Amino acid sequence: MILEEKYTLSNGVDIPKLGLGTWFINNEDAVQAVKDAVKIGYRHIDTAQAYQNESGVGEGIKASGVNREEMFVTTKLAAEVKSYKEALASIDASLQRLGLDYIDMMIIHSPKPWAKFKEDEPYFEGNREAWRALEEAYNAGKLRAIGLSNFEKADIDNIVDSCLVTPMVNQILVHISNTPKELVEFCHEKDILVEAYSPIGHGELLKNGEVK
Ligand SMILES: NC(=O)c1ccc[n+]([C@@H]2O[C@H](COP(=O)([O-])OP(=O)(O)OC[C@H]3O[C@@H](n4cnc5c(N)ncnc54)[C@H](OP(=O)(O)O)[C@@H]3O)[C@@H](O)[C@H]2O)c1
Repeated sequence: MILEEKYTLSNGVDIPKLGLGTWFINNEDAVQAVKDAVKIGYRHIDTAQAYQNESGVGEGIKASGVNREEMFVTTKLAAEVKSYKEALASIDASLQRLGLDYIDMMIIHSPKPWAKFKEDEPYFEGNREAWRALEEAYNAGKLRAIGLSNFEKADIDNIVDSCLVTPMVNQILVHISNTPKELVEFCHEKDILVEAYSPIGHGELLKNGEVK
């Protein structure tokens, strides 16, 4: 069954292929959503600081009764955090909200703060600073894997050319009507696993009879 299948990241850590996304699930509902997902076999839960449901996700994981080691929990460093100091504090705050001793994977949510997404400034320095904080938390054993999200080629090069720990994942928008082949191949050349978000296009793809 696909829920039991895994990929192995470049650092040897296994990540279940299929995860439960928790965007738009409020903190209270996240508890039950996670419990229900675990009950039907999910072992990978994806949250983010921006979703404001990390404590609900953590509670759901504890209440699920499944051993912590069997679960894979991802959270995302807020897109607005672009300094080393703020990122370090932010990682610890996520650990606290989730109520976990370690997080399986933490990724930079976006190379640019959401409000600045359409602007040209690439935040290269800020992303290197945020990455340095993720590396430190990774080396301290707080994070088992670290990665990126919504990073394009230039954003990835900025990290890869200066980092000590290479990103393990880039989580990007990929579904059957959005296939950024070049970026996917580029990531794979760098040994970065591509994780697809919005795999059914926010549900829109299921309006197509053939897809359904
Ligand atoms: N890194 C990022 O920047 C980023 C961005 C977006 C998403 N993500 C992650 O990816 C996860 C999934 O993405 P997503 O929520 O955007 O999109 P998705 O998984 O493509 O679609 C989820 C939506 O599809 C609808 N749906 C599911 N099953 C359905 C069915 N059988 N029939 C009809 N509709 C159905 C649901 O809509 P209803 O709720 O209306 O039922 C659900 O909200 C998120 O939760 C998040 O963890 C990450």
